[in-house]
Formats: sequence, C-alpha cells, structure tokens
Amino acid sequence: HRIAIFASGTGSNARKIIEYFKNKTDITVSLVLSNKANAPVLDMARDHGIDTLTLTRKEFYETEHLLAQLHQHAIDFIVLAGFLWLVPSYLVRAYPQKIVNIHPALLPKYGGKGMYGHWVHEAVKAAAEPESGMTIHFVNEAYDEGAIIFQSSCRLDPEDDPETIAKKVLRLEHEHFAPVIEQLILKQER
Ligand code: GRF
Repeated sequence: HRIAIFASGTGSNARKIIEYFKNKTDITVSLVLSNKANAPVLDMARDHGIDTLTLTRKEFYETEHLLAQLHQHAIDFIVLAGFLWLVPSYLVRAYPQKIVNIHPALLPKYGGKGMYGHWVHEAVKAAAEPESGMTIHFVNEAYDEGAIIFQSSCRLDPEDDPETIAKKVLRLEHEHFAPVIEQLILKQER
C-alpha cells in the first residue's frame, strides 16, 4: 500500500505517521501534499526522502493534476493530517473509503466549517466540557461528517485553557493516528 498525506500546517501528525511506517514493508508513505509551498511539513518529508507536491487552489479543484500525480505514485490510501481545504467530490469518488481525516475533538460535536485548530479548543473551553479528544473519520463531501472510525478522549480540568487542551488532544493524535491507519488498511484487505 502506498499512502499520500495531505497537510497544511506544522505536520507533527504527518511526522509521526512517516516515522511509524518507515520500517514497515507493506505500507509506505509515498507522497506528501500541501497547499502551501513553504509548509514545514514538506521539508520534513523531503528529509525522509519522500516526494512532495504543492498545488494551487485552482489545480486542486479544477484540474486532473492531482489524480494524475496520485496515480503516478500508485497511491491507494489518503490521509488528511491538518489539511484545511474541503476535499473535492472527484477525489472522494476516486478513493471511496480510502480517505481519512483526523479532527481534534469528539465529533459530531465541534466539527464543521470554521471548526479547526485553536477554534475547536476555544469552543470546548467555552462550553466547559468535562472531556475532549480526537476523532479519526472517513472523508466525504462535507466537513467532518464522514463515518467515524476511531475516537479517544481525555479528561479536562477547570484550569485547562485552549493551549493545554490542544496539548492533551495532540498527544492522543500522535499516539493513535498511525496505528489506526495501519489497522484500517489491513482490515480493508481482508
Ligand atoms: C491536528 O490537531 C488535527 O486534528 C487537525 O490539525 C492539527 C494538525 O496538527 N486537523 P499537525 O500539523 O499535525 O501538527
């Protein structure tokens, strides 16, 4: 299996995934894509010898460029790790049940357009939630609405602020994302 990771940000999840699959023979991270040419995640991927790709919004939504690249790299599974553009339906159709996303909250709460990064943890804090967590889910044409694959939660204390909530959640993401991807790919094989 050959995975492509889509990431826009610092790429700490992408790094964990790349390191996790580094010594595995049946699953390889083969391509890292970003919408930002200067995203740190691209340098990190190149340091690991992984091919990278940057696309403009127009290329992403209005051309066949991405599909051609994915086919050229023989990609059969796509992981969104901090990727903020809505996945276009041509891609969902080309990779049915083969695109997953990670979200830093316990969906279906705190998801949807505009609910990303710091905003999520602000909302969780404002609602004085006793817990938060992370969700790994399939990607469909709507933000954060695909079927849930895996969730993990953490307790929150009244002293927690959006920064400490973010830390707790990110720790769960780093712990679970790669193994859940591996289990899913192996399960889909059977
Ligand atoms: C993660 O919290 C993820 O849930 C969200 O974006 C963040 C990405 O962080 N979708 P990083 O770039 O992997 O550090």
